[in-house]
Amino acid sequence: MRRKISIIGAGQTGASTAQRIVERGYADVVLTDVVEGLAEGKALDLQESAPIVGFDARVTGATTTPDGRGYEATANSDLVIITSGVPRKPGMSRDELLSINQQVITTVVQAVVQQSPHCIIIMLTNPVDAMTQLAYRVSGFSSNRVVGQAGILDTARYKTFLALELGVSFQDVDAYVLGGHGDTMVPLPDSTYVGGRPLKSLLSADRIQKIIERTRRGGEEIVSYLKTGSAFYAPSAALAEMADAILLDQKRVLPCCAYLEGQYGIRGLYVGVPVKLGASGVEEIIELPLSEDERGALHRSAEAVRALVQAMKL
Ligand code: APR
Repeated sequence: MRRKISIIGAGQTGASTAQRIVERGYADVVLTDVVEGLAEGKALDLQESAPIVGFDARVTGATTTPDGRGYEATANSDLVIITSGVPRKPGMSRDELLSINQQVITTVVQAVVQQSPHCIIIMLTNPVDAMTQLAYRVSGFSSNRVVGQAGILDTARYKTFLALELGVSFQDVDAYVLGGHGDTMVPLPDSTYVGGRPLKSLLSADRIQKIIERTRRGGEEIVSYLKTGSAFYAPSAALAEMADAILLDQKRVLPCCAYLEGQYGIRGLYVGVPVKLGASGVEEIIELPLSEDERGALHRSAEAVRALVQAMKL
């Protein structure tokens, strides 16, 4: 029997994630959205690609209500990926975004958990570190079953810029970006290797710093081109990679937003760190050896996340 993945939010990222997952073939996908017919329409279109692309997975859509009705189609999911939410609009403060998405995610998580009490939840909605902490609290799940996506995307952006600069394969850059998703994210240039060679032996400190800055503003750079909407190809690729790691029990070591209980000197908070992802979700928090500077930057990033969590009065 194929596994079942529900994707909440059939917008750019949700629909693109659905496409990547059904094309892999190992899981059926249920897509939902509050916009009447959006999920059903995209799911049917995607299903009709099956004879051409060559997959047998089923993809269906369902309309839900903002107060949490209509989730029956998601029942007994193994994995639920949450992409529903409102993007930040011009003139909207981060606090306003936080409070709107807090309401959305609270209702969504309650409805998801009622239908799929044994699932694992992956959170995407921004501000993702705070929303993952919210999902953890609302779900009542153990922390290994609630994980957020940010670090894979941030790391992919960092690797992309380095590979383009150095003229090497995108796959031959070995690096991690830790911390919260945002201005305070923590790329680790001291532990970045390109084909086994330390990055610092290949690029000047100045060039490395410019690439780090571009990585930090990676989301904004895309928004400035698109004008409406934000990145979704790379975010959906990151979500599909996490889905593979969990449902295929790959035990991948990936940077994810995970609950720390003292690791890296941080307690009671979701922050981006490398984790082992497998059938139980977050199976281990991997503690990398960090320099003093890197550790300081990670702590500052964690404090920025903590301020958001406190603003939600959880
Ligand atoms: N339940 C289900 N779906 C919802 C709800 C809700 N309560 N509220 C909003 N949605 C849906 C919207 O109707 C929309 O189709 O979520 C979808 C979000 O899709 P997009 O606006 O296209 O955003 P996307 O680019 O996919 O990003 C999704 O990830 O990057 C973050 O912060 C960003 O919150 C955004 C999320």
